[in-house]
Amino acid sequence: MNVFEGKPVLSQAQARQALDVCVGQVRRNLPKFTRACQNHSSIHNVYPPCDNDQWTCGFWPGEVWLAYERDGGEAFKTTGLILADSFLDRAERGVALDHHDMGFLYTPACVAAWKLTGYEPARRAALMAAGRLLARFQPVGEFFQAWGELGAPDNYRYIIDCLLNLPLLYWAADESGDPRYRTLAGRHIATCLRHSVRDDGSTFHTVFMDRETGRMSRGATCQGYHDNSSWARGQAWAIYGLALSYRYVRDPVYKEAFDRVLAYYLTRLPDDLVPYWDMIFTSGDAEPRDSSSASITACGLLEMAGLTPPAEARRYRRLAGQTLKSLVDHYSVKNPEESNGLVLHGTYSKKSPYNTCTQEGVDECVSWGDYFYMEALTRLRGRWEPYW
Ligand code: GLY
Repeated sequence: MNVFEGKPVLSQAQARQALDVCVGQVRRNLPKFTRACQNHSSIHNVYPPCDNDQWTCGFWPGEVWLAYERDGGEAFKTTGLILADSFLDRAERGVALDHHDMGFLYTPACVAAWKLTGYEPARRAALMAAGRLLARFQPVGEFFQAWGELGAPDNYRYIIDCLLNLPLLYWAADESGDPRYRTLAGRHIATCLRHSVRDDGSTFHTVFMDRETGRMSRGATCQGYHDNSSWARGQAWAIYGLALSYRYVRDPVYKEAFDRVLAYYLTRLPDDLVPYWDMIFTSGDAEPRDSSSASITACGLLEMAGLTPPAEARRYRRLAGQTLKSLVDHYSVKNPEESNGLVLHGTYSKKSPYNTCTQEGVDECVSWGDYFYMEALTRLRGRWEPYW
C-alpha cells in the first residue's frame, strides 16, 4: 500500500502560516533561552533550560536564526549573537566537545550566525569546532570516531548521524582553504556507504571497526530497537546527510544511496507518514512516533529536489509537502499553553531489550525536531541559503 496516495500537500501559504506560528513561539521563548540553552527534549512537553554542554544545544540558536530570517526582528539577532558568544566560549574551553557532533552544534549556532551577520567570533568558533572534528579521524578504517576516548577499543566506531556533521567540514574547507576537511569528509562517507547501508536500504545505527585491519567488525544499535532493525532517526539522518553531501560533491554514488535509503524509509511509514521511533514497527503498533525523523526527511527531500531534474524534483517536493502537511495538522504545537516547543511526539532514546541507550525524551518535543521542522517549512516556502 502506498501511504502517500491521495494525501494532501502543504501549500506555500500554509507553510508560511505554520512558520509564523513557530516564529511566535520562538519569540515567546527568547527571555528564557538567551542566557541559557534549551534541553535536548521537553519534560511533559515543556523544555527546561540547560547549560551549553549538550550535543543538541545548536538547534535552539538555529531556530532563532530561522526566525530572524523570516521576521527580521532585532531581538532574534541579539539573542543569536549572544548564543554565538556562548558557543565560542564553549569551543575555547572545550566544554563537552570530546565527540563528533561538531556540526550539529556549530552549524546552526555559528555558521548560520556568520553567514547571516558576518559576526567574526561565530566564524572563529565554527572553525575551531571543525578542527576538533578533523582530529577525530581514524586512518585505520577511515572514519570519524563518534564517541569516547580516541582509539578506545569499546568505542572504535562511527555512527550514521555523523553525515550531518560533514557539512561543517565542507564549509571549513572553503573558508580556510585547507583541503583536508573535504578529503577526510569524503573518506568518512565512503566508509559509511560501504558498511552502514544494508542491501535493502535500511541502515545500521553504529558500526564498529577493527583497530588492526580497518575492516568492519559489526553493526550495532544504540538508540534503535535492535542491531538489525533500522532506527527511524538514523534512516532520516542518512537521507538528509546524503542529500547534503551530494550538494557539495555531486558524486552519483551518494545520489544512488540517497534513493535506496529513502525507498526503505517510505515503505515503512504508517498511514499519517510519521514513523515510529524504529522502522521495525508498523501501523497499529503501540509504540511512540519520532516526529523529528519526518521533519529531517522532509529537509532531505527538499534539498535533493534542488539538485535533480524537474520530474524527480517534483516527486521529492510532493513527498516533503505531504509529510509536512501531516506534521502541521497533527503534530505541531497549536497552543503555547500546552508546550514551549514546536512539534510534539518526538522520541530521543527509547530503551528496548536489545539496545544500549538510556531512556530519555520519549513522546516529547525534541530540540532538533523543532529546528528541522522550521527548516523544512522555510525550505518549502521558497529559496533559502542553507546553514549546512
Ligand atoms: N544524534 C543523536 C540522535 O539523533 O539522537
